[in-house]
Amino acid sequence: MSALRVSVDDFQEDARRTLPRAVYDYYCSGADEQRTLADNVEAFNRWYLIPRVLRDVTAVDLSVSLLGRRVSMPLCVAATAMQRMAHPDGETATARACKAAGTAMMLSSWATSTIEEVMSAAGDAPLWLQLYIYKDRDLTLSLVRRAEKAGYKAIFVTVDTPYLGKRRADVRNRFKLPPHLSMSNFSSDTLAFSEGNYGNDSGLAVYVAKAIDPSICWRDISWLQRNTQLPVIVKGVLNGEDAVLAVKHGVSGILVSNHGARQLDGVPATLDVLEEVVQAVQGRCEVFLDGGVRRGTDVLKALALGASAVLVGRPVLWGLACQGQDGVFEVLNLLKEELRLAMALSGCRSVSEVSRSLVRRKSLSSRM
Ligand code: GLV
Repeated sequence: MSALRVSVDDFQEDARRTLPRAVYDYYCSGADEQRTLADNVEAFNRWYLIPRVLRDVTAVDLSVSLLGRRVSMPLCVAATAMQRMAHPDGETATARACKAAGTAMMLSSWATSTIEEVMSAAGDAPLWLQLYIYKDRDLTLSLVRRAEKAGYKAIFVTVDTPYLGKRRADVRNRFKLPPHLSMSNFSSDTLAFSEGNYGNDSGLAVYVAKAIDPSICWRDISWLQRNTQLPVIVKGVLNGEDAVLAVKHGVSGILVSNHGARQLDGVPATLDVLEEVVQAVQGRCEVFLDGGVRRGTDVLKALALGASAVLVGRPVLWGLACQGQDGVFEVLNLLKEELRLAMALSGCRSVSEVSRSLVRRKSLSSRM
């Protein structure tokens, strides 16, 4: 009998044993020396939870409204690329798991399932499109149009990837998609990442250098907003100054993200800059966080520091690799139940009762 998986780490260990090496490396890697990768996880240990007692926690309500939609918990699925490398059903399995868990899913521009297929699988679970701005703007807008037509609820535009960060394992593995897969939302083989000469490099880094627009700036956020009625959220903000600019540009939200530590190594853990962003925004838009969330207590700490919700990427991939839709559901449910317990043990009966006083930063000496 296989061992019961009781934590996200257990899923990761089983996924590591299941996945081909180059696939696991691609999902797992951070940039360069992976210092930020470790720090994203470590940052949560720099905070204590300070519980309140005697508050009747018989019932704990985890539900929240995000971008105008009610979801079952303040934890959603982050965009991760090329999910059919993890399981034959890929993004459609993830979407079905989100429907079952009652939460939202962000679909990568680089999905190995189409925008429309994922919509059919998601049912009433809110779907958000993660958008890369391509050099070809008509192509970029065609993704937005397809998302609008299919019923997606928001566009999360990635702003931290003018070039791909250097993931050493991907260079060593000369990472590319297995031949039976492609980025399904593109019709040309080159844009679908199913053909190309990538030399001695990560194929994805070569793809990004060819196709993604490194010249984007704030006026491109305005361009995107002029071209869609959907809420636009900027994904990849890491400081108060950019957060203020995002608000000035009228965005509906900010995702505090360092791209799973896959872009610029040496940037702070997302949890460490969350409060600065929240304070800069002053309630003028929603603030989300991803990066390093592995336990229910992590979610609770991010909420206490002002996040409307958090998103998880790699944990979902581990669930998908272990057991497709059921594996993703198990991971989401595990985190949900961990959050429920953490809230109850902290004296919080609803997300609105999670306040800043619930967390206290550890002093340097207590972290030794
Ligand atoms: C995709 O977004 C990646 O970082 O590889």
